[in-house]
Amino acid sequence: MSSPKRRLLVTSALPYANGQIHIGHLVEYVQTDIWVRFQRMRGHEVHYVGADDTHGTPIMLRAEKEGLTPKELIANVWKEHKRDFDDFLISFDNYYTTDSPENEKLSQSIYLKLRDAGLIEKRAIEQAYDPVKKMFLPDRFIKGECPKCGAKDQYGDSCEKCGATYSPTDLKNPFSVVSGATPIKKVSDHYFFKLSDPRCETFLRDWTQVKTPLQPEARNKMKEWVGQPGESKLGDWDISRDAPYFGFEIPDAPGKYFYVWLDAPIGYYASFLNYCQSKGLNFEEWVRPDTTTEQYHFIGKDILYFHTLFWPATLHFAGYRTPTNIFAHGFLTVDGEKMSKSRGTLISAHSVIESGFNPEWFRYYFATKLNDSMEDLDLNLQDFVARVNSDLLGKYINIASRSAGFLVKRFGGVVSDAAMNHLLLSEIASASEKIAELYEAREYAKALRTIMELADKVNAFVDENKPWEIAKDPEREADLQRVCSITLEAFRLLSLYLKPVLPQVAAGVEDFLSVPDMSWNDVKTPLSSQNPIKTYKHLMTRVEAPQIEALLAANL
Ligand code: 2FM
Ligand code: ZN
Repeated sequence: MSSPKRRLLVTSALPYANGQIHIGHLVEYVQTDIWVRFQRMRGHEVHYVGADDTHGTPIMLRAEKEGLTPKELIANVWKEHKRDFDDFLISFDNYYTTDSPENEKLSQSIYLKLRDAGLIEKRAIEQAYDPVKKMFLPDRFIKGECPKCGAKDQYGDSCEKCGATYSPTDLKNPFSVVSGATPIKKVSDHYFFKLSDPRCETFLRDWTQVKTPLQPEARNKMKEWVGQPGESKLGDWDISRDAPYFGFEIPDAPGKYFYVWLDAPIGYYASFLNYCQSKGLNFEEWVRPDTTTEQYHFIGKDILYFHTLFWPATLHFAGYRTPTNIFAHGFLTVDGEKMSKSRGTLISAHSVIESGFNPEWFRYYFATKLNDSMEDLDLNLQDFVARVNSDLLGKYINIASRSAGFLVKRFGGVVSDAAMNHLLLSEIASASEKIAELYEAREYAKALRTIMELADKVNAFVDENKPWEIAKDPEREADLQRVCSITLEAFRLLSLYLKPVLPQVAAGVEDFLSVPDMSWNDVKTPLSSQNPIKTYKHLMTRVEAPQIEALLAANL
């Protein structure tokens, strides 16, 4: 390991417990998981936690529609999410739920600390209310006619027909999506986190512009949102909701509940606390302001606001450490367009598995598109087939199948130790730090390009040396063993580099080459004649174009 041992807490955004995991979500979990696996291979102490985001009105209403209690619904969805993450080899150390006793306690104590710091204010506000269902209506639960073009059945925030944006009170003939009743206006008390307080403003300006190495796009956005000193652009944040609401009750305000976005990020900590308790780790050591541990949140660019303003302010003013960094990614498009149910491109994680796809094809393909920016990335279905078949199968896996047979059949699987000094191998090994830097910087596309260039060199070596020709000449036994040993050691190195992306293939390679669980340092531990390799078994199959059609059809 080239750097001292680091201690990292890593999260991915918590998916809502009212829908399936789809490939758009997977981009983020795969991105995080590759980083986490890489850090583990570097020998660092890494804890990767997640949870379902379970509270709020949509989940409450969906449960009701399905004839379930919210707790029953979220328990069912948790099982599906966990299954999907396991299928895609997402290596959470703990996958929990925000509807947990740990989260309730933490949320309440954080709220009380904010209140005691003078940062909570009660204010009466007027909102849309469904008089039949007897509940306040979030914007998405009010529909009506667009005030601009008159299109019917439009949501309370924007018109899908003409693109106009407005507030729900602008809608003509508004109705509640829940009961169909015409919403009325009703006043109730709400609790606000006073982000407009000068302490918050000063803290957030410093945290987003000086302290935290945010992505440049994120930093600029924050600059805009936080404004110049004295400009106080930040509005106070409404953190309460009225009953009926599925969530945690506010300790000093019976009948009022924490808005889901208050307890959701605290759910990161609650999951970690739950994990610490089961593993005997000291939670406090990780979350106190003077900690030397690191904390990273991988998120989509749509929830930057919550993670770079609300969350650090919540943590800081409640006496906790703040995140080391926030890593935002762009959205996934399919064949250049937004994912769409009617085109079958809103592809669920489960349908990918059910249609017989290898999850590592997707892990690899996403990785070839990922970098450190917030740009959108495209899943081009034709390109997917070509990339997987030509890179993974044609360039990489092929290397093992071309050389392992001779070594096992003719030399009992024993490699030549002398061959390990070959120039090609030192060239591949010397790329290890560059590749590590690229993984560290989340420049996976560049890392994979570098690895595939090395694979090209290995294939060129095999083509030049033609082991299949050497094998015909009984005088050239030693040569055959040498060439095959070099090729297989090169294959081991490539497998090590690809391991964060292709953990399952790497496990197969470790078994076949008789090497223990490879860490990054094992770049320096070549194959040895002491550990003969085993018979090569297929590590991965090709993707066939008709499988894509079947996958799209399964999602219609
Ligand atoms: O946008 C979403 O899908 C949210 N459920 C993400 C929550 S992330 C964290 F803050 F909990
Ligand atoms: Zn319109």
